[in-house]
Parts: sequence; structure tokens; C-alpha cells
Amino acid sequence: MAEVVIVPDRAAAGALVADAIAELIRTRPDAVLGLATGSTPLPVYEALRDRLAGVDVSRVRGFALDEYVGIDADHPESYASVITREVVEPLGLDPSLIQTPPAHDEDLAGAGDRYEAAIRAAGGIDVQILGIGTDGHIGFNEPGSSFASRTRVKTLTAQTRADNARFFDSVDEVPRHCLTQGLGTILEAGHLVLLAFGEGKAEAVAEAVEGPLTASIPGSAIQLHPHVTVVVDEAAASRL
Ligand code: GLP
Repeated sequence: MAEVVIVPDRAAAGALVADAIAELIRTRPDAVLGLATGSTPLPVYEALRDRLAGVDVSRVRGFALDEYVGIDADHPESYASVITREVVEPLGLDPSLIQTPPAHDEDLAGAGDRYEAAIRAAGGIDVQILGIGTDGHIGFNEPGSSFASRTRVKTLTAQTRADNARFFDSVDEVPRHCLTQGLGTILEAGHLVLLAFGEGKAEAVAEAVEGPLTASIPGSAIQLHPHVTVVVDEAAASRL
């Protein structure tokens, strides 16, 4: 059963999770972080700036959950760019130790296996930060994803593309495909920390945390993990 922590606002959520991550890095300087994108984890990354000041982060490693297929790596909304801008640069991490799924490789078919191998070679992810889509996706594992799935190319749903249109000039510019860690990959992280804010996430949070285990709500896979912390504001907790 996931531990659910209800916090007053995003800043409080960011502080709580950043405290735990900073402590992990102090005790384990080569910690492996599972990094999420989207708007949800931003308060965590912001709160980490203060908490990691003066901490040796030179050996911190990181793996992003997912990446768009079909836009260049240097596109400002590629997750490689977002992770660089929001995490690597402000926290002073070593960019060579932070990876995003290799969605720009010529051999896209083998890209998932290579990413899985890189995660394994790092010894696995210590703490995986997660947001949740309004359709219940985690990473970009859209409804219908197998709980055993590994890193692979997925097609984004119309709802996800509409949700993410705010990051682009129009919905037509939102990529149609992605390379995402699978649910099986995510479940291998040592600790899952899922954050969600606002009424729009309430249904997805309730279904993920308390609903039946179903591929229709990929987030429900977290119920299979022995160490999950769900950090939500009152609005996102309102259907629990
Ligand atoms: C995005 C990401 C997910 C994220 C989710 C929610 O598209 N691929 O990792 O958790 O959708 O996004 P947001 O946090 O912006 O609501």
C-alpha cells in the first residue's frame, strides 16, 4: 500500500521530496535518480537548488523516464533539453552522468534495450520521481501498457498530445511518438515517489492508488511496488 502524504501546496511537496533526495545524495554521493519531466516535478527540482548547495553532486547519476521521438534533441521541449535546463544546469550535475532515452539514435528499434542496459549498468535507479497523466499514464506508458513492459517506442494518445500542447505552439507540433521506460522498468526502481497537484489529477490519482490493477490505468502498477510515496495536494487527493 502506498504511503499517501497530503501537503498544502506544490512548494511543500517540493520541499518534502527534495529533503529526501538531498539526504540520499549526502549518504550516497553516486545515487541514481529517476527524473521525470512535465510540470509536476518542477517544485522538487527548484527546492533541490538550496538543499544541494555545498553538497558534492559530482557523482550523481540520472535517467529520464521518457523522450519524444520526432523532434531534435536540441528542440527546447525535447526532454533532453528540459532535463538540462531544469535539473542538470541549476543543480550543477555532471551532464555526462545524466541520460535521457536515446530517441534520436538511428537505430530506434534497439534504443530501448540500450537504455535498459545503461540503467542496469548503473546498478538500477534508487529513487524514481513520477508525475501522472490525466489518462493515468506514468512515464509515457499510455492506457493499455503491459505491467511487464520495458523501454520501448509508444504512440501518444490524443489526450496526452492535447495536454502537452501547452509546451508547443500548437497541438500539431506535439510529437506523436515517444521512447519511454516501461512499467516493468519503473517498478524496478528502489523507491517510487509519485506527485500530483490539482483537481484535474484527482481521478487518475484515486484510480492509480486505490483502483483495480489494470492496464487501462497504467499508474495502478505502482500498487505492485513495495515502497511507494504519493505526494498530493488537497485537490489531487479529493477522490481518495
Ligand atoms: C507528461 C510526461 C509524464 C508526466 C505527465 C504529466 O507528458 N511524459 O512523465 O508525468 O505527462 O504531466 P504534467 O506533470 O505536466 O501534468
